[in-house]
Amino acid sequence: MNVLLVGFGGREHALAWKIVQSPMLTRLVAAPGNPGIADLCETRAVKADDVAGLLSLAREIAADLVVVGPEVALEAGLADALAEAGIACFGPSRSAARLETSKAFTKDFCQRHGLPTAAYRVFEDTEAASGFLDSLTAPFVIKADGLAAGKGVVIAQDRAEADAAVLDMLGGRFGSAGARVVIEEFMVGEEASLFALCDGTGAVLFGQAQDHKRAYDGDEGPNTGGMGTYSPAPVLTDALIQQAFEELIAPTVRGMAEEGNPYVGVLYAGLMLTEQGPKLVEYNARFGDPECQVLMLRLADDILPWLEAAAKGQLSRLSGPSWREEAAVCVVMAADGYPDSPVSGAVIRGAGADFGGEAVVFHAGTKRDEDGTLRSAGGRVLNVCALGATLHEARDLAYAAVGAIDFPGGFHRSDIGWRAL
Ligand code: AMP
Ligand code: GLY
Repeated sequence: MNVLLVGFGGREHALAWKIVQSPMLTRLVAAPGNPGIADLCETRAVKADDVAGLLSLAREIAADLVVVGPEVALEAGLADALAEAGIACFGPSRSAARLETSKAFTKDFCQRHGLPTAAYRVFEDTEAASGFLDSLTAPFVIKADGLAAGKGVVIAQDRAEADAAVLDMLGGRFGSAGARVVIEEFMVGEEASLFALCDGTGAVLFGQAQDHKRAYDGDEGPNTGGMGTYSPAPVLTDALIQQAFEELIAPTVRGMAEEGNPYVGVLYAGLMLTEQGPKLVEYNARFGDPECQVLMLRLADDILPWLEAAAKGQLSRLSGPSWREEAAVCVVMAADGYPDSPVSGAVIRGAGADFGGEAVVFHAGTKRDEDGTLRSAGGRVLNVCALGATLHEARDLAYAAVGAIDFPGGFHRSDIGWRAL
């Protein structure tokens, strides 16, 4: 099978690492990829949102399957263009990807289908928003409707901060992504990430993890794309997973199909485990990053049959998936200044070492000089991952590898997994 993998981060490096282990694979090409991915397969300098470029690359390599990592490609309409060309694609159409790209779409969808999520309203003008805020108590949750690079959610502790956030978003801080704001009820509970593969009509659970979103130890500091993950997350019991599947994921896939937007790919549910049960915080139309990294370490099956079956509407033919018993931990090594102003270009040494055991280093934001020197080139730079018999052991292995990597221009959290340990 010829496969085109779209994307450039740690998530895509983990997918590439898993895909190249497949006996079904003939050729893997990644676009644009990164230096870590380039150690595993061919890479081509085509950007993840260059739909025409990716389509012609898929044709050139006679791709049997295109696997889409990041949401930018989905929002650009890559899955739609591939469908038109008759090329199988793991990833939803632009219209179905609105479950991630439009918070207002998702909230309205949840309301139409009676799915558990925070109460909310959508506003296009500050006066109406202000009136609604009058009816709520702090903390206030204010969200830009569209994609805002992880910065579109404000949890305001007082009314002045809430008003400022509304004004800021409707005033154009995020361009058209902020033309509408969603104001919602504040939910109390622990957060967890649940994944399902979807083939347009059905869904299969595909792993769970917990993420650390804040930059610094003790869950302090600014929100980030994720500073580390572990799987399994003990807080997400089998009973809660089943409940979330039945009350949220299965009806979502059914509802999307009924409304003419069949959902294909991975559906990532960000859940709040409240006293009333699991509620949806947000959907993403892709694997989490760095959740994907720990899932790939734990997946016992060949991944290609799963990705292909989802893309071709054939998930019901497979049974499983099966997971390794071990726990997996991922520690993100980020560049100094991340998330606000990460400093690029710092030298990294030792990332390619053989860490023995089950530790693997995925590249998230790196570049390689012509002489082979590895440098940071992004906010999140390396994802140091390990499998262990227990979460403790996995964490110790991951941190031993972190300690062996020389990256003076970066930082990491030293408490990944604390909630579960
Ligand atoms: P989102 O981008 O929608 O995942 O929001 C970012 C973060 O804001 C989430 O991971 C939560 O920690 C928090 N958050 C979002 N919506 C709510 C809510 N309704 N209640 C409490 N926390 C929320
Ligand atoms: N780790 C959170 C995300 O991928 O959105």
